[in-house]
Amino acid sequence: GKHQLLSVEQFTRDSVEELVRIADMMQPIARRQKVSRVLEGAVLGNLFFEASTRTRVSFGAAFCRLGGSVCDTTGFTFSSMAKGESIYDTSRVMSGYVDAMVIRHPEQGSVAEFAAATNIPVVNGGDGAGEHPSQALLDLYTILTEFSRLGKLLDGAHIAITGDLKYGRTVHSLMKMLALYKGLKFTLVSPPGLEMPTEIIEHVAARGNHVIEQTHSMAEGLKGADVIYATRVQKERFNDEQLEGYSADFQINKALIDTYAKEDVIIMHPLPRDSRAGSHDLSVDLNHDPRLAIFRQADNGIPVRMAIFAVLLGVENLVQHSMRDVTW
Ligand code: CP
Repeated sequence: GKHQLLSVEQFTRDSVEELVRIADMMQPIARRQKVSRVLEGAVLGNLFFEASTRTRVSFGAAFCRLGGSVCDTTGFTFSSMAKGESIYDTSRVMSGYVDAMVIRHPEQGSVAEFAAATNIPVVNGGDGAGEHPSQALLDLYTILTEFSRLGKLLDGAHIAITGDLKYGRTVHSLMKMLALYKGLKFTLVSPPGLEMPTEIIEHVAARGNHVIEQTHSMAEGLKGADVIYATRVQKERFNDEQLEGYSADFQINKALIDTYAKEDVIIMHPLPRDSRAGSHDLSVDLNHDPRLAIFRQADNGIPVRMAIFAVLLGVENLVQHSMRDVTW
């Protein structure tokens, strides 16, 4: 329904493009040229039972920049769930305290359980290996914004997705979101044993006349791609055997990009990337390459999450009128 964001499957192409339009409208606030108090008096409950930097802070900042306030609870040990309280009771109690909730939880389906117990808007900030719909929205927004600059269309584009495609929930949500467009070519590059789940492939294959190719070779997967979307090794969800199959061959780095990628490719990653020596997701040697879109992508979390709140709280038509010039 309108008051929950649990899965990208809620969206049609029209409704996602409406959200993109609202996110564009939020840009003057996100860029700190304008301020708004359209959510004055509203309180957001940010309930994070799993580590997060971007999702927690950007949802919080987005709510604050629209004039609302935020209450944060982070980790099981800081909530009464550590004493055995259920999701149902927690959600019922929170409903009396706050006007919307963003929840990240390690178990797939848990955020839907929170949502079922309340009438206030609930946003899925990531549920285990399930979905991360706000990330998919900001990823789509990033692709559309970067393509607009390059004069490209998303219909017919080639998207390469690399790394841990089994446990990376952001790429599950992103593939399903991109399936709303037409004639895309997906090349899915993963280590053996970490392939994209069959149900995601089937979901995408059933829509929009897409081509989906799977490979274990970066050289094969990256050639001709308009977007390269790298992911982090989700070590927290792995067994040791799967980790052994993961090698430096699956790292996106300057040598690989210079050899196989298109001149105008966009390099994305949901972040965090593992920047420690010996990590295998996205090398820091691309940091000064203008094709690296990861920080523009992270910045887009603010206007997109403002748009999500505006729609869930029904103020999207009041935002434009509420904007004032920054005085600081
Ligand atoms: N991309 C993302 O979800 O980052 P965090 O885990 O830091 O929120």
